[in-house]
Amino acid sequence: MAEKLLEIKNLKQYFNVGKKNEVRAVDDITFDIYKGETLGIVGESGCGKSTTGRTIIRLYDATGGEVIYDGIDVHAKKTKTELKAFNRKMQMIFQDPYASLNPRMKVLDIIAEGLDIHGLVKNTKERTARVHELLETVGLNREHANRYPHEFSGGQRQRLGIARALAVEPEFIIADEPISALDVSIQAQVVNLLKELQEERGLTYLFIAHDLSMVKYISDRIGVMHFGKLVEIGPAETLYTAPLHPYTQSLLSAIPLPDPDYERNRVRKSYNPTSHNYREDEEVTMREVTPGHFVLCSQREFDSFPK
Ligand SMILES: Nc1ncnc2c1ncn2[C@@H]1O[C@H](COP(=O)(O)OP(=O)(O)OP(=O)(O)O)[C@@H](O)[C@H]1O
Ligand SMILES: [Mg+2]
Repeated sequence: MAEKLLEIKNLKQYFNVGKKNEVRAVDDITFDIYKGETLGIVGESGCGKSTTGRTIIRLYDATGGEVIYDGIDVHAKKTKTELKAFNRKMQMIFQDPYASLNPRMKVLDIIAEGLDIHGLVKNTKERTARVHELLETVGLNREHANRYPHEFSGGQRQRLGIARALAVEPEFIIADEPISALDVSIQAQVVNLLKELQEERGLTYLFIAHDLSMVKYISDRIGVMHFGKLVEIGPAETLYTAPLHPYTQSLLSAIPLPDPDYERNRVRKSYNPTSHNYREDEEVTMREVTPGHFVLCSQREFDSFPK
């Protein structure tokens, strides 16, 4: 059994909007992330994927629940030194690399920021050498160090975002839709780069995406979110071949395949949350159907699943 890197337990993130309204962006979700794996999180816009990532990495305090990283409670009070050490372990890559790269800073300084904060280089020479090395690691070159973010293409900018994340030698990276803003032709290149880096460095990824197509290619396991809830999680293959939650089934039915026969007969399923017809006394909770495959369901639904 693989070792757990993160345990997310009953995590909640509620936002107050207006005087009385509350958005339950993340509503009591529980899952683990194993060392060295890629866990994909999918679900439609607004279902709480980014908020989950941001709460895990502590950009937000949690409304409830726990995030345990290698045995340490992420949200517990920490000294400055502990916090700094902790921040180094987790990094985030964003959807829009342009918005997350300071346009007035040279690439050299953007990438070196983490090196400076964490005191990872002794002098300017070492700092520059380290940035050059990072640029080469992500498929760019040392001449790029003296340029500004606007002088790069979308795919190159995402490589800069990756280099910046790698600078502090993190263990865990949350990639929040890192390829959604890129041309399809560039998407695979960036995904392949992330995969190579993972193999070389033993990185653990939480990979957030809208749709299931690219996620399948990169993920070992996949979790599906709907309205702040995790509705299904399991090995990528299982989720594709034997999805059990009707929402996962509807997401899958939306993926087009380059096969005319399949396309002619493809039936798009829609998901209606009221179709469960839950009774008030039924407990709806994550139940393990086959080892590692969990579905949010009632006992009645659980009993009806093929085992
Ligand atoms: N800072 C905030 N304050 C108030 N509401 C927020 C905040 N951040 C997110 N929300 C709300 O929480 C819900 C989840 O948002 P989130 O950004 O996590 O969704 P998402 O799954 O990442 O969507 P997308 O695919 O569009 O990026 C949405 O209803 C959103 O409007
Ligand atoms: Mg998002």
